[in-house]
Amino acid sequence: MNLSLIIDLHKPHPRQGPGSRADTLRAIELAGLRDRRDLKIADLGCGTGASALVLAETLDAHITAVDLFGDFLDELTRRATDHNLDARITPLEASIDALPFAPESLDVIWSEGAIYNLGFEAGLKAWRPFLKPGGILAVSEITWLTGESPETTPGEAGPRPAELQRYWDEAYPEVDVAAAKIARLETHGFSPIGYFPLPPSSWLDAYYAPLRADFDAFLERHHHSDDARACVAEHQREIELYERFQAYYSYGFYIARKV
Ligand SMILES: C[S@@+](CC[C@H](N)C(=O)[O-])C[C@H]1O[C@@H](n2cnc3c(N)ncnc32)[C@H](O)[C@@H]1O
Repeated sequence: MNLSLIIDLHKPHPRQGPGSRADTLRAIELAGLRDRRDLKIADLGCGTGASALVLAETLDAHITAVDLFGDFLDELTRRATDHNLDARITPLEASIDALPFAPESLDVIWSEGAIYNLGFEAGLKAWRPFLKPGGILAVSEITWLTGESPETTPGEAGPRPAELQRYWDEAYPEVDVAAAKIARLETHGFSPIGYFPLPPSSWLDAYYAPLRADFDAFLERHHHSDDARACVAEHQREIELYERFQAYYSYGFYIARKV
């Protein structure tokens, strides 16, 4: 897919992946950050600022908001200024696999829907050194909600559909159940504090609905070019997959402490 088209499709929106203000607040509570003072936080793969804005508004903290794409950071900066939060957020155009932070300099690493760009395990290994001892990691990551072949109970999800398994095996081979993700956290020097799966509203209402509402305007902007139509078709396929198979996968939000 054409990268500049993907950026143009996603830039006008408050978030670039599943999640919601309520999910970010729930993770903040689980992490026990409310009463902490003068926190140094990095929000990695921040997009246009969905979580950075909630962190800045809720916590006594300074947030370095990192993304690979300046266009997303420009939008984040505009929104932070609108909400009078610009003094608390520093945008940083950088790659999450080559971060410029000093060792043990961060109280919190936050990352919603972005660690998959490195891979979950590679991300844990690469980011851990930047956290102070006892620092908090809060990441959301694609997660199977059921085992491979759960007992089928009427009204509940049956065995994982082969079509879905194939899609995710290809798109992100590290997709796994929460127990396996939590075991990875433990292997890589983190003590798990909490986990919750994002509810369907965090996909359908918070992320997909605004995106879908913008498809026509996006196609108009790009004169219905082949590339623009392919970009919309790919996103429609992703939405349809979620609508059909939402019982089987979501993002899991994982909160853990560096040990
Ligand atoms: C699924 S979006 C999530 C955005 C945001 N956290 C949210 O929840 O709305 C993934 C984000 O990671 C960013 N990204 C992808 N690869 C990256 C990299 N190597 N370094 C920094 N950011 C990256 C993308 O630009 C995008 O903003």
